[in-house]
Amino acid sequence: MFDFFRHNSGPEPSMGVLNADMHCHLIPHVDDGSKGDDETLDCLKTLQQIGYKKVYITPHFNFPRYPNEEDDIVKRFERLREVVEKRRAEQGLTIELAGIAGEYRVDDGFAEKTKNKSFLKIAGKYVLVELSLHQRRMGLAETIFDMQMKGYEVILAHPERYPYYTSHSQEMEELKNAGVYFQLNFLSLTGFYGEGAQRLGLEYLKNGWVDFLGSDMHNAVYAQAARDASANKKLKKILGSHTFLNSTL
Ligand SMILES: [Fe+2]
Repeated sequence: MFDFFRHNSGPEPSMGVLNADMHCHLIPHVDDGSKGDDETLDCLKTLQQIGYKKVYITPHFNFPRYPNEEDDIVKRFERLREVVEKRRAEQGLTIELAGIAGEYRVDDGFAEKTKNKSFLKIAGKYVLVELSLHQRRMGLAETIFDMQMKGYEVILAHPERYPYYTSHSQEMEELKNAGVYFQLNFLSLTGFYGEGAQRLGLEYLKNGWVDFLGSDMHNAVYAQAARDASANKKLKKILGSHTFLNSTL
């Protein structure tokens, strides 16, 4: 079978400069992401096609909606790894499954629930956290500073998707000054999440606040959007003119 992905000899695809994706939902049946192995394999192929060499998978930990437990998620990751290894040649997959982490929702009782918790971390180092898309959380800074005091490096997922914050928000600035990393969804920059997230994403970039880019890939719809985005001239320009920490993972 012609192996398109492995022998693509054209110019480096857009996301090649990032090397690693560090935010996606490709463990089947544990959240609103992939619905099965085939969908995950298709999404992995897309990530590879647009230039990624490796990927960290980050299912939602969001009680009670997605009441995932670390032990179970690790087992599911190992099972997925076996599936990928078995089907690598047939699928033309070279992308590495670099590790399993989580996208932890900061919600009511988060501090209490995570008191003695061992978070699943990206590259053994970073804890990815997300917020409600609708409602501002009082005491967010304290919760995150608390995590930092315990030695965690915290990445805030897609700050551009929280419409109750702006690129001038004092709270955002405080988080940045405290060393919280910001991860933008690159699809925000192409308008996938609407005009508001696109504008905010560009403003956060302009502020110099964006440390990581993520695909936040969930399924085939996101995969198609990611392929379209990889050909987007504005996004290519951003990738060429900013340095992101993805390449250090
Ligand atoms: Fe996500």
